[in-house]
Amino acid sequence: MAFVTFGLQQTLSVRRAACARTCAVQGAGRPGARRSAVSTTATRTLRMSEQPLIDLRGKKALITGIANNKSIAWGIAQSLKQAGAEIGITFLPMNEKVESKVRALTEPLEPTLFIELDVQKPEQIQGMANAIETQWGGQVDVFVHCLAFANRDDLLGSFSKTSLEGWNTALSISAHSLCTTTAALKPYMKPGSSVLTLSYLGATKVIPNYNVMGVAKAALESSTRYLAHEYGPDGIRVNAISAGPLRTLASSAIGGISGMMKHVEATAPLRQAITTKQVGDAAAFLLSEAASGITGQVLFVDSGYEIMGAPPGVKE
Ligand SMILES: NC(=O)c1ccc[n+]([C@@H]2O[C@H](COP(=O)([O-])OP(=O)(O)OC[C@H]3O[C@@H](n4cnc5c(N)ncnc54)[C@H](O)[C@@H]3O)[C@@H](O)[C@H]2O)c1
Repeated sequence: MAFVTFGLQQTLSVRRAACARTCAVQGAGRPGARRSAVSTTATRTLRMSEQPLIDLRGKKALITGIANNKSIAWGIAQSLKQAGAEIGITFLPMNEKVESKVRALTEPLEPTLFIELDVQKPEQIQGMANAIETQWGGQVDVFVHCLAFANRDDLLGSFSKTSLEGWNTALSISAHSLCTTTAALKPYMKPGSSVLTLSYLGATKVIPNYNVMGVAKAALESSTRYLAHEYGPDGIRVNAISAGPLRTLASSAIGGISGMMKHVEATAPLRQAITTKQVGDAAAFLLSEAASGITGQVLFVDSGYEIMGAPPGVKE
């Protein structure tokens, strides 16, 4: 997605070609007059095409949640870079290996900020805000919250047996952190800034094994709406993407992810599993001025799976 202008460019070149044909026929005998009228139109249309629809040039985008090249956040980071954003990366400081792995992966995006962030540690959330102040001149236009965690035990057993500790861990890391991180960055966000988080269908429908993560995603989607309401008057938008199932480090903890992917491929209207690039491109749209009238929404990027009430092919 080298700026999302293909549709427009194509329309314009078709128009230009039609224009040239008309000129060749109608302009016979009066070449000067026809050529100037056509060239004015062409100049106007060319100027239009210089303005990409998804344009994040001049925007500083801070992205959380890159663990490896399968991460949804990695797909988003690439799309935001292609749309022209300056990139900042946070990584979960589990060990030195993680840091060097994420650093090597993201190097081609030329991040101008690279900082640790464990959302369970208030001092690291404050450290993120300090880095925006000292390294990015107190400006952040785009924030991508793309992280979640639940104890594996709470994703396998009976939902009714979820421990309080497991419940608190899942909701604190996966939902409450949207509030704490966004609140810490808010002082550095001008009108026109935008926040995005990642949800899943398990927020509103039962997905076997998703268990407490479903509750966490329901809280996350609700938080998206309340934050959108709170920050809207300051011109800051907050949205969520509900992505279809993808094989990542986080999803490998949830039993049956491969089955879900196959199910989506077989039954979703588009009959295809989704890719991190598709999520990334939709994220670039939602985070750009092209979506300036959209806030508090959950956009499904799932090949249309969510609209289905029964599998295709069900007959009487
Ligand atoms: N993979 C899917 O099928 C799918 C579908 C819909 C939504 N999502 C959501 O997308 C988001 C990204 O997940 P992913 O599937 O790309 O997996 P992933 O494992 O690549 O990313 C999860 C990220 O969360 C980070 N994280 C976990 N605990 C953290 C903490 N305490 N502080 C800071 N970061 C922490 C990890 O470091 C990791 O980078 C999650 O919110 C997930 O629920 C995933």
